[in-house]
Amino acid sequence: MRLLFASSEIYPLAKTGGLADVAASLPAALGRRGVDVRLLMPAYAGVAVAAEAKAVARLGNPFGLGDSLLLEGHHPDSGNKLWLLDHPILFNRAGGPYQDAAGADWPDNDMRFALLAWTAARLCRAESPMAWKPNLLHLNDWQTGLAAAYLRAWGGARPGVVFTIHNMAYQGNFAAERVPQLGFPWSFYTMQGFEFWGRLSCLKAGLVFADKLTTVSPTYAGEIQTPSFGFGMDGVLAGRAKDLSGILNGADYKVWDPAIDPHLPQRYGPDQLVDGKAANKAAVQSDLGLDTNPAAPLLVVISRLSDQKGMDLLLAVMPAVLRSGAQLALLGSGDKGLEDAFSALAAARPGQVAVHIGYSEGLAHRLQAGGDLLLMPSRFEPCGLSQIYALRYGTLPVVHGTGGLADTVVDATFDALLNRTATGFVFDQPTASAFQWCIERAVGFFRSGEHWRPLQRQAMQQDFGWDQAAARYLDLYRSLRPNGAPAKSRRKAHL
Ligand code: ADP
Ligand code: GLC
Repeated sequence: MRLLFASSEIYPLAKTGGLADVAASLPAALGRRGVDVRLLMPAYAGVAVAAEAKAVARLGNPFGLGDSLLLEGHHPDSGNKLWLLDHPILFNRAGGPYQDAAGADWPDNDMRFALLAWTAARLCRAESPMAWKPNLLHLNDWQTGLAAAYLRAWGGARPGVVFTIHNMAYQGNFAAERVPQLGFPWSFYTMQGFEFWGRLSCLKAGLVFADKLTTVSPTYAGEIQTPSFGFGMDGVLAGRAKDLSGILNGADYKVWDPAIDPHLPQRYGPDQLVDGKAANKAAVQSDLGLDTNPAAPLLVVISRLSDQKGMDLLLAVMPAVLRSGAQLALLGSGDKGLEDAFSALAAARPGQVAVHIGYSEGLAHRLQAGGDLLLMPSRFEPCGLSQIYALRYGTLPVVHGTGGLADTVVDATFDALLNRTATGFVFDQPTASAFQWCIERAVGFFRSGEHWRPLQRQAMQQDFGWDQAAARYLDLYRSLRPNGAPAKSRRKAHL
């Protein structure tokens, strides 16, 4: 099985969220199962050096923006072969993968990611400058969605194409005039194609033209077929229901395990839970200027600050939660209004609220280890990785029961406590009052001490490693033949 796995971000080379973690660890798990995997991403500033990549081919100039090169290197952790799309004018910039340093989307994101998609498609074809050709193409999110459309537009032989939805809220919708500029016939710009409310939608291209669709949790797979979660594409998804499945993400426990985590002042496994948590909590409190009080419940948040993540609900409940004596340590960046509001809260409550606006891999790990509770009041959450990591660190998640949050956290109900399945605290409605009540319930458990350690131990024992998910992706790949024809039977489905 020869798999080309294309993503706009891959940890540790470029990361804005969970997609990067998945794009690093899923292909690594597939590689361990014998799949011949190549990764493809753009050569953002610094990436070629980190991946020790060298130019191996010219890719051409499809949109008249100048020549691009293909570089070949390897993933720094898994060692998987990595291809980089090198077009310095489009990708070698100071700033993030999608936005400039001030947080504005790059104005040419359409051309940047159309070129990434075009490259992914090109590498699957006889015209590819490389001898190695995939018989499976796995695309992720809107940034790669047009690859599925290119392969259809060009016709002829092509690999099976899987498109994974990590988030329906980001769609890559651009002006219709791009249709011919990107080399597509107008016949693709219809309701049955990639047209979406008068625009060219890269997400819809993936949804319509890929052979199989997946999303990152079973619950989200159902939710996105409804108007409340489909962001206008629920009808398209319902129409493809037989090709859509939900495969829960995994966690990479080589990166996220408190027993081996190099970022922590003190490492701990389940047997050192009490001392380990105490030491890490004290370190977080003193590093961030919080009162070093072991009895104060420490609530932590590690999150993009966006509407999705329900951060406005967090702001709304903070006055009451702080009155109860809890502390908040928040690491995040995103929406400027939310950044300012959380910074103002920290300034008003020194010693009780610490806010770090920005991105810090090390602090994310230390908060996972030092916190008592991790808050994720997301309005929707395709999977969510932070709560899965929190479980392993014995930091109990407080989550809205949606998407992957519902699939990974078991609420501490009476029954779940009794049969020892509980791992956290779940609330049903994304409202401030439901969230506040849930935090109070969780803090009640923390303060009473009863059940607290067993709950933490139960959380730490959960296994969300990638093996199970990798097996499901393999089954899906095996169900596909080149050109997207379904395999006749499992036994004959050699790829
Ligand atoms: P999403 O992908 O929607 O942002 P996930 O929970 O799937 O949410 O993944 C978030 C990932 O991004 C986790 O690895 C988390 O540690 C990381 N992360 C989020 N915000 C920050 C930040 N400000 N600094 C460091 N890591 C962050
Ligand atoms: C997206 C989703 C998040 C998911 C991640 C990885 O960023 O918002 O829920 O965990 O992708 O699949």
